[in-house]
Amino acid sequence: MATKELGREQWGTRAGFVMAAIGSAVGLGNIWRFPYIAYDNGGGAFLVPYLVALFTAGIPLLIFEYAIGHRYRGAAPRAFLPMARPAQAIGWWQVAMCFVIGTYYAVIIAWAVRYTGFSIGQQWGDNPEQFLMSDFLQVADAPGMVSSYVAGVAWPLIGVWVVTLGIVALGVRRGLEKANQIFIPLLVVLFLILVVRALFLPGAEIGLNALFTPDWSAITNGQVWIAAYGQIFFSLSVGFGIMITYASYLHRRADLSGSALVAGFANSSFEILAGIGVFASVGFMAAKSGVAVDQVVTDGIGLAFIAFPQIISTLPGGATLFGLLFFGSLVLAGLTSLISIVQVVVSAVQDRTGMRRGPSVAIVGGAIALASILLFPTSEGLYILDAVDHFINQYGIALAGLVTVITVGWLLRKLGMLKDHVNASSAVPLGQWWTITLSVITPIILGWMTWDSLRTELSTNYEDYPTSFLLIAGWGVVIGVIVIAVLISLIPWRRSVPDSEHFHLNTVEQEAGSR
Ligand code: PHE
Repeated sequence: MATKELGREQWGTRAGFVMAAIGSAVGLGNIWRFPYIAYDNGGGAFLVPYLVALFTAGIPLLIFEYAIGHRYRGAAPRAFLPMARPAQAIGWWQVAMCFVIGTYYAVIIAWAVRYTGFSIGQQWGDNPEQFLMSDFLQVADAPGMVSSYVAGVAWPLIGVWVVTLGIVALGVRRGLEKANQIFIPLLVVLFLILVVRALFLPGAEIGLNALFTPDWSAITNGQVWIAAYGQIFFSLSVGFGIMITYASYLHRRADLSGSALVAGFANSSFEILAGIGVFASVGFMAAKSGVAVDQVVTDGIGLAFIAFPQIISTLPGGATLFGLLFFGSLVLAGLTSLISIVQVVVSAVQDRTGMRRGPSVAIVGGAIALASILLFPTSEGLYILDAVDHFINQYGIALAGLVTVITVGWLLRKLGMLKDHVNASSAVPLGQWWTITLSVITPIILGWMTWDSLRTELSTNYEDYPTSFLLIAGWGVVIGVIVIAVLISLIPWRRSVPDSEHFHLNTVEQEAGSR
C-alpha cells in the first residue's frame, strides 16, 4: 500500500492509454466544428491543408507532448520545472486554461443531456431556435451582469459534474481508463448507426456533394490554411498540457510515436465520419425544404441545437431514435474530453502539493464545478460562454503553443534530447524532420495565426459585443490566466523536493553537462 502511494499512477495497458488519448481528442469539436470548417474552407480541397497540418503540426506536437510527459513524469508544471524553473509558468498557463475550458465545456454537455431527453417526441416543437434561446436557455437580450438563474440548465450541469468528478476520483486506471474503454467504443457504435441512417435519407448526396466538391482556389488562400491548423490544434487537444499529463502515467517503456500516430489518425477518421453524417443529414433537410445547403449549415451551437432538432423533426421515421443517437454521441464525446481537462488541473495540484487524489479532486475539481455552476446556467451564460470560448481558442492554443515550442526548442534546446528519448522506446523512429518541423514550421504558423487573429480582434469587436463586456469575458480571461500562471510559478516549492525529482534534476544536469 505504502509503495503504491509513493509511485506515480499508471495506465493498465497501452491500449488503455491510447483509448484515453483518443477520448480526449474526439470531442464536441469533431462533431460540430469540423464539418462546418471543412465546408466553409474549400470543401474537398480543404483536406489538403488539413492533412498537411496534421503531419506538420498535429502529430509532431502530439509526440512532443507525449515525450515531455513521459520523460519528466509529471503533469504540465512539474514536467517543465526540471527543464528550467521559470518554464513551469508555461505549465501553469496550460493548467489555468484547462480550468477555464472545463467550466464551459461541461455546460454544452449539460445542454446535450437535456436535448437527449427532448428528443423523445421532439419536445422542441416547430421552432427549435425560439425553443433553444427563449424556452430552454432563457437568454437575455444583451450581454451584461448575471441576472436570472436558469434551473433547467443547472440540474443537468450538476449531474455532468458529479459523473466527471466521480470518474476522475476513481483514478487513472480504475476511473479514466475504464470510462474511456466503455465510452469510446460505445460512441463509435452509436455514431456509426447514425451515419448509416443519415446516408439512406433522401437528398443525402446533395449534402455530401456540397461537403466534398473541391474548390481548388481555396488552397491559395491563407485564411484556409489558418483554419486547417486551427482545427487540427483544437481537435487533437494539443497545447493544453493534456497529452503531457496523460503520457506521465505511461510505463517506462512505451511506444510514444506509434501511439501518437494511432491517436492522430483515429481522431481525424472520426472527424471525417462526422462530416459525412452531418452533411448527409443537412442534404436531406435542404432537399426536403427546397433551400440551398448553405442555408441549413451553421457552426457550433446553431448546428447541434437548432439545425439538428429541425432535421430530426422532419425525418420520415425514427425521429426519436435519431435524436437519441445524435445527442447521446455528443454527451459521450464531450464527457471523455472533459475528464481529460479536469485531470490536467487535479494532477498538477497533486504534483505541486503532494495532496492525495481524493482531496485534490474535491478541492480543485469542486472549484471548477462551482465556477461552472454559478456562472453559466444564467440568462447571460450563453454570451459569456461564447466570448470566453472565442478568446481562449484564439489566444490560448496558438499563443501557448508558440511560447512552448520556442522555449523548449530554441531557448532550452531540448528537442534533440526529447527525440532521443522517444527513439529509445518507440516503434517508429523520429528523424530530423521532427526537430525541423517543431523548431521552424510550427513556430512560423503559430506566430502567423496569433498575429492574424489579433489583427481581426483589434479591428472589430467579436460578435459586436460591447467593449466593456469583451474586456472582462474576453481579454480579462486571456490575460488573467497568464497572470495567475506567473504568480503561481513564483511561489517557492515549500515541500522538500521529492526523491523522484532529485533523480530527474540530477539526470537533467548530467545530460546538460555531457553536451
Ligand atoms: N479536442 C476536443 C474536441 O474536439 C476539445 C478540447 C480542446 C478538449 C481543448 C480539451 C482541450 O472537442
